[in-house]
Amino acid sequence: MIKNEITRLIKDKRARVGVIGLGYVGLPLLTEFAGKGFNTVGFEVDERKAAQINAGQSYIGDVASSLVKELVDAGRLRATTDFDHLKECDAIIICVPTPLRKTKEPDVSFILAAADAIKKRLRRGQLVILESTTYPGTTDEVLLPMLQETGLRLDEDFLLAFSPERVDPGNPHFQTHNIPKVVGGVTDDSTEAAACLYSQIVDEVHAVSSARVAEAAKLLENTFRAVNIGMANEMARLCYALGIDTWEVIGAAATKPFGFMPFYPGPGIGGHCIPLDPHYLSWKARQHGFDSRFISLAEEVNSRMPEHVVQLVSDGLNDDRKSMNGCEPKAATSVITIRLCAKSALTMRTSRAGARRSHPSNSAMKKSARPIAS
Ligand SMILES: NC(=O)c1ccc[n+]([C@@H]2O[C@H](COP(=O)([O-])OP(=O)(O)OC[C@H]3O[C@@H](n4cnc5c(N)ncnc54)[C@H](O)[C@@H]3O)[C@@H](O)[C@H]2O)c1
Repeated sequence: MIKNEITRLIKDKRARVGVIGLGYVGLPLLTEFAGKGFNTVGFEVDERKAAQINAGQSYIGDVASSLVKELVDAGRLRATTDFDHLKECDAIIICVPTPLRKTKEPDVSFILAAADAIKKRLRRGQLVILESTTYPGTTDEVLLPMLQETGLRLDEDFLLAFSPERVDPGNPHFQTHNIPKVVGGVTDDSTEAAACLYSQIVDEVHAVSSARVAEAAKLLENTFRAVNIGMANEMARLCYALGIDTWEVIGAAATKPFGFMPFYPGPGIGGHCIPLDPHYLSWKARQHGFDSRFISLAEEVNSRMPEHVVQLVSDGLNDDRKSMNGCEPKAATSVITIRLCAKSALTMRTSRAGARRSHPSNSAMKKSARPIAS
């Protein structure tokens, strides 16, 4: 059985680990394996990133350049744009982006490109793992048929699994080793080999019965956050209408030692994952005739928050007898932690409300727009 050969190589640390996509997820993962004594190769389409890694420089905040340099100098880590080196790898982990199309449908084209690169070089004895966040079924409906087109057989020649990433960039308390890793293979052998690989770098591996379960678990985690942030946002608007301080309400509820987890209102959902991932789940649900109403409602509530924040800013200015068209958009946004879509949506709306660029920032806004953490 190929599983025994692969797990032996892993346990002996003779397995060469390849990671495709050296971004926020892929680079820390690569350095983690290299740090544990594995020979590693990172595959990138971006030549500058590959060159930076080989020069011992990190471009990801959570990965120190000194560590990259040490691993490169020790000969345990290198990056390349030449995908022919995939043949040398015993384990290949895919960490490429999974954005949304303009239609808000999943864009798995990066996964397909990575899978195609593997397919062209697949050989007997390789374990392939997908880490990119995606809809349930991607691993066994999309990747498996591609790899089987080579004529190589699952379990006999190669193994295939999904394991979601849970990195929390910038969080000093949780790094790779102390974040439990969920692993689900397309077959039991695949699960076992993938679990064996990750147990080399994390304290706890949680094996599930299939790749689909692992894919769905990741989407549940992020949908849970999107829905709860939506509820906190609705509560904020409700409290505003009733003249109650939302933050005091949440703070009081959070003293309950069981059955409550605080989420906080914000100007909309930012970041790469929470605004996108629930769409992967609702899209797949629609293919099966299921309408995921919580996801739609959370998106609707969250997308209205920029308007609400502008209202708060405007009210704060009013209290100081100042007008919206006398301040600059930056002032409105600088008092709030905003990223990506939330920021652009807010800027667009403050501009529409008459905020102009040249006026100095206004402290009145700080009174009405409280710090946001979502
Ligand atoms: N960033 C996070 O906090 C986070 C957390 C959990 C899960 N994820 C998921 O992990 C996946 C990767 O996210 P990320 O934040 O690392 O993305 P990223 O954009 O930071 O990095 C992706 C890298 O892949 C490279 N790439 C694209 N296509 C490629 C290809 N065909 N071959 C080789 N390299 C290729 C890009 O150049 C880029 O460097 C996504 O599915 C994301 O949803 C991200």
